[in-house]
Parts: sequence; C-alpha cells; structure tokens
Amino acid sequence: MSAYPVELPEVPGTIRAMLVLGTRPEVIKLAPVARAMAASRLFEPVVVTTGQHREMLHQMLELLQVPAKAGLDVMRERQQLSELTARLVEGLGEVIRNDRPDLVIVQGDTTTALTGALAAFYERVPVAHVEAGLRTGVLDNPFPEELNRRLIGRIARWHFAPTPRAATHLRAEGTPDTQVFTTGNTVVDNLLWVLGEGVGRSAFPGSGRRRVLLTLHRRENQGERMRAMGRALRRLGQRGDVEILLPLHKSPAVRDALLPELTGHHAVHVVEPLGYPDFAATLADCDLVLTDSGGIQEEAPSLGKPTLVLRTTTERPEAVEAGAARLIGTDPEAILAAAGRLLDDPAEYHRMATAGNPFGDGRAAERVLAQLAEDFGEDVPTGLSSAVRPPRAPEPSPAA
Ligand code: UD1
Ligand code: UDP
Repeated sequence: MSAYPVELPEVPGTIRAMLVLGTRPEVIKLAPVARAMAASRLFEPVVVTTGQHREMLHQMLELLQVPAKAGLDVMRERQQLSELTARLVEGLGEVIRNDRPDLVIVQGDTTTALTGALAAFYERVPVAHVEAGLRTGVLDNPFPEELNRRLIGRIARWHFAPTPRAATHLRAEGTPDTQVFTTGNTVVDNLLWVLGEGVGRSAFPGSGRRRVLLTLHRRENQGERMRAMGRALRRLGQRGDVEILLPLHKSPAVRDALLPELTGHHAVHVVEPLGYPDFAATLADCDLVLTDSGGIQEEAPSLGKPTLVLRTTTERPEAVEAGAARLIGTDPEAILAAAGRLLDDPAEYHRMATAGNPFGDGRAAERVLAQLAEDFGEDVPTGLSSAVRPPRAPEPSPAA
C-alpha cells in the first residue's frame, strides 16, 4: 500500500503540528509530545481539544503545558457513537481547514482519533498516528476501538508503534516499512515525568490492608456483565484483608452498573476520577491492579504492580507474555480465583512484580519528534540526539 501523501509540503521555519485530543488517555499520552514540541525551536504544537470527554479531559489538560488553540464541545450524556462521530468529523474538518497545519497527530483508537485522522485526510493534511499497530484481531473487541485503529492505520503517513509487535502488525497489513517506527509508548514518558515531579498523593486511606486498585469502563463490558464483575469484587472485599479503591469513570453506563454493587461496603472506596499525579501516586502505592483499561495495563508493569486484565482480549499481550499481567476474562469466579491466588501466593506475586516493563524507556516522544523532523527535511535539533533518531533507534528494551 502506498503512503499518503507521498510528497510532503515545503515547511518554511517551524513545523506546525496539530494535536487532536478529546479523552483522558489521549491527553496523557500526547502530553510528552506536546511538551517536547513546545520546548523545541523546530515545532509549533497546535492543540485542539474535542471535548469527547468533558470533566475527565479538563482534569488532564494541565499535563500538556500548552494552551489549547481551539476547542469543540461535542460531549453529550450517554453519547451514541454514530452521532459523536458525525459531530467530530464536521467540527474537526472546519478547524483543520481554517488552521492548515503541516500535519495532524492523533493517538490511539478513540472516536476523536479516528475522526481527527479522517478530517485531516479530507483536508489533505498528512496524519501521524501515535500508538499505532495495536490489534486484538477481533474486529468488535474492544468495541469500537479495534476498528478505529485499523481505519487510522489506513489513513496515517507516520505509524509510531509502541512495541516491535505492534510494528509487525502494521507491516503484515502492508504498511510500508519506511513508515513504521518503533518508539516505545509515550505513556511511560509521562508516568516517569509525573512521578519525577513528585506532586501526587495516594488516594488509598491507609488501613494497613492489601491495596487493590480497580478500574472498569469498557463499552463491551457494560450492562449485566459489569454488574456481575462488581458483585465479584464486592466478594473480594469480604476477605477482610484487602481494601479496594475504585476511581469511577464518569460514564453513566459504568456508574449504573457498578454503584449499586459497590457502594456502602467497608472495604470498597469509590472515588471520583483522580487527577494524573494522584493517580500515578495511587498506582505506585497499590499492591495489585484489576483493570480493563488500556493505559493502566502499560503503566502498572512500569511500576512493578501485578495486573489482572478483566477482559477477554487484549491488544497489549506484551505485558502478559513478560509475566507482568494476566488476562483473566470477565467471569466472576475466575476474577475471584485469580485475585485470591495473587494475594495468597507470595512466589506468584513476586514473579509478576519483577517481570519488567515491555512498553518503553521513557523516550518515545523524542523519537516521534526526531522522525518528523527528518521527514520534513529539517536538521534534527540538539536535544533530539542521534541516539534516538529512527529508524535506527533501538527497540525499547525491558526495564531491569
Ligand atoms: C472512550 C474511548 C475509549 C477509552 C475511554 C477512556 C471511544 C470509542 N472510546 O470511551 O477507547 O478507553 O474513552 O476513558 O472513543 N462522560 C462524562 N464526563 C467525562 C467523560 C465521559 O460525563 O468526562 C460520560 C458521558 O455521558 C459520555 C460517556 O461518559 O457520553 C461515555 O463517553 P465516551 O467518550 O463516549 O466513551 P468512553 O466509554 O469514555
Ligand atoms: N487515570 C487517571 N485517573 C483515574 C483513572 C485513570 O489519571 O482516576 C489514567 C491512567 O493513569 C491511564 C489513563 O487514565 O493513563 C487510562 O484511561 P482510561 O482507562 O480511561 O482509558 P484507556 O487507557 O482504557 O483508553
């Protein structure tokens, strides 16, 4: 498959890169790119927020350290995917048409990312995809993210794959080798940066019991399946030696499923979504993670926290293969058994806690900038050292 577009425009002076983001994880994972661009003389980051998420987006924007140039306000309560998609394509088309950036950068597999890529294509602006090449191989799981990322893969000119496996997926689909770059995941850059700042506070109350950090939100789990998972987790709390902390996603569908099952139990603390510094500190403070989140599957191994993935598929098998995470599924008894085993078997716990992090070395954003600079024909500036210049950049290696 040929690259689109084959020729890049002449860029006099700075490269104007529009970062389109609308949900919590997109801010977290594009923040290192925005910060690095703002610090360079070569790039001008143009941040556009879509408002696909409202409170959870605004809670994160400070991480960017770049003010948004434009903002849409597309979120509706219990939004339907088709309507959200339509609002986003129209709104982003107008923003890109008026601004004419040199490229558009999207991240991951949200509706914002898909529509950002599509609107850029319609305006003939080249697209860079950060966190490209993740696949479960099951088109509707996760829903609709697996389709979204495959479609973005058809549109993008730059495919920044977080791991060698993700790069392999892209090549197997016919993406030209010259457009696939293994960078590591920018989530590791951000996590290390935020922990280094040292401003977050753990949200665990500190009862001396084992600390279980829980998050659930995926659309394919909502409804009765999520309610049953909630009941299982309540039973886990009844062991007496654990406390469970649940920073609850704002989605009403998630709240409908989990609040009736998990409120009013002495061992389960349900709190509002945490700001990123506090979430990072909470993750660093926990013993065990139970989650269906993508980003948390990447962050937890970076901090040596054994992770049970409460999904039937994962596009991040690297953590499972490394031994840092286990794919448990959504069956209540399986969840209880797996959590019990980890809590009761110190050797198993130790094995998972020391398995290492396969998702990067904290320099992914540097590699993204260096590649873009090279392709726009610019000298790679000081600070983007030759050691990180792709495609000769080293594959990210597991941390010790
Ligand atoms: C979206 C992404 C998913 C990502 C998740 C991160 C898509 C298709 N899915 O799913 O990949 O893992 O974000 O959290 O893009 N809401 C609020 N306030 C907020 C955020 C959400 O009230 O700050 C409510 C709204 O009622 C909204 C609903 O949550 O309608 C669902 O939000 P939406 O972005 O459609 O889907 P997510 O499940 O959050
Ligand atoms: N996160 C956060 N506060 C919270 C819960 C999660 O900052 O209360 C962060 C977490 O560190 C991770 C990201 O949000 O980086 C994951 O977002 P989410 O699970 O909503 O989306 P996904 O990664 O599944 O797309």
